[in-house]
Amino acid sequence: MQRITRGNPLVLLIALVIPLVLAGCAGGQLGVKSSKEYRNGMVVSANQLASQVGIAILKKGGNAVDAAVAVQFSLAVVYPNAGNIGGGGFMVYRSAKGETSTIDYREKAAAKASRNMYLDSAGLPIVEKSMYGSLAAGVPGSVAGMFEAHQKYGKLPWADLIAPAIALADQGFEVSERQANELNGLQKRFALLNPSGTAFMKASAWAAGDLLVQKELANTLTHIKEKGKAGFYEGAVANAIVAEMQRSGGIISLEDLKNYEAIWRKPVVGMYKGFKVITMPPPSSGGIALIQLLKAVEGYPLKKWGHNTDSTVQVMVEAERRVYADRAAHLGDPDFYKVPGIQLMDAAYIKNRMSSFTWDKATSSTAVSAGVVAPMEHEETTHFSIVDREGNAVSITTTLNGSYGAGVVVKGAGFLLNNEMDDFSVKPGAPNMYGLVGGEANAIAPNKRMLSSMTPAILEKDGDLFMVVGTPGGSTIITSVFQTILNVIDFDMNMQAAVTAKKFHHQWLPDEVQVETGALDSVAQRVLERKGYIIKPRGPIGRVDAILKTKWGFYQGGADPRGDDLAIGW
Ligand code: GLY
Repeated sequence: MQRITRGNPLVLLIALVIPLVLAGCAGGQLGVKSSKEYRNGMVVSANQLASQVGIAILKKGGNAVDAAVAVQFSLAVVYPNAGNIGGGGFMVYRSAKGETSTIDYREKAAAKASRNMYLDSAGLPIVEKSMYGSLAAGVPGSVAGMFEAHQKYGKLPWADLIAPAIALADQGFEVSERQANELNGLQKRFALLNPSGTAFMKASAWAAGDLLVQKELANTLTHIKEKGKAGFYEGAVANAIVAEMQRSGGIISLEDLKNYEAIWRKPVVGMYKGFKVITMPPPSSGGIALIQLLKAVEGYPLKKWGHNTDSTVQVMVEAERRVYADRAAHLGDPDFYKVPGIQLMDAAYIKNRMSSFTWDKATSSTAVSAGVVAPMEHEETTHFSIVDREGNAVSITTTLNGSYGAGVVVKGAGFLLNNEMDDFSVKPGAPNMYGLVGGEANAIAPNKRMLSSMTPAILEKDGDLFMVVGTPGGSTIITSVFQTILNVIDFDMNMQAAVTAKKFHHQWLPDEVQVETGALDSVAQRVLERKGYIIKPRGPIGRVDAILKTKWGFYQGGADPRGDDLAIGW
């Protein structure tokens, strides 16, 4: 069991934060929630300690990739509900000179995985099996992804980028009120899945300011610091993962770990009103869907209609309905399934898809063909955006899938396993609650990557960097990134306003418009309802963390106020 004590803020500040922050804050600004502008670079992440680590690396002479590696490992410590080493993610990179690339470090199914592994003897899905416990975990990709990125682009030594995360795990950090509440809500699940205890378990309730110390995680990070990728996928840490599988019924083997490779993939690229959008190809559905959405609305006078007016919302919703129907039918791991990406993003195809839409009433989702349904997706995950002094940019979205992933902490190694297997179509070919069948493209197969919605993106204007953007939010990721881009390009918002603006979401099925409280005024809502749109109010949508480069060459941050997110510039 690891040490858990109530934190003394002063001691904490001295012991932990100051060494990291002194470098990070000299001459810089903390707590940027408005669009203040900076010349030399910026880090925006879901956690202030992680943002501080990132900016410290930039100030030390590291580039955007160095800072990204340090932020990814730090988030695994200070934002354990989604930051991770036991999960996966996607990185989109653009150099200051305009070179672009992406790394797919998505988890993949173990070699022993099989199509029906989450079905009972009657062929029905056993929901808990793909959600909780070791069997829900895909082979983790984050360490391989970061190692690969650093090998190609890194400037500072690897060890220097892991050291801040080790310090945070070893000395602890103060949990926020939000984190304390989350941890309290998960105590029973942690106890059930981790009989020998974890750093997240505590006899009395967690409170804001309590210190979370993760000694075992610090030790695992030290292996990674010293041995690189092999420090995770081989040796003591790999052995601990496999022992955990044996203890709790998982199937990931030493071979699965040793064989895991992050993959460099060609970005998906599209144009919107003269802006070049560079984003993630499959196994993310996000990139293709984002380009489809932008192209579907490009011909409409959104600016004239205004932000979230009934006409604007109607066109965006009808585009979303059609794009999500395509997504469910046609997208999966491109190494296993021929994804028709070029056809889906073809301007004539998209125009034809939109031709069935009429102003007088809502299209019915059942009338939109391509009818298969994607699984329900978790809305956790996390995103961070970074630009360095030279203008190199990194956009990373990374995840354990559900909050705190599978709920299993690898015994002796101190990190959470993902529950990403739940992103597969657990039962393709069978009718779901809407009478439609699940997607074959995303069926489970050994070594296959599960479909994702993560949409890290970078935009260019006239050959120069314009925006770095992304968000968590499961299936709402794509529509949140879409709206953030429109908010800047069509509705002239600054970066913070575009992030803060209330959002809405339609995903073909269920056939309803999910609307964040306050996103629509009563007039727009009444007009849409009269046309047959089902408006479903809901809580926060997305947690976008983004950076905008102004035409004068300054960076504006957008840190989502829906979370504890923080933009730090210098
Ligand atoms: N698990 C969330 C996603 O990959 O989209």
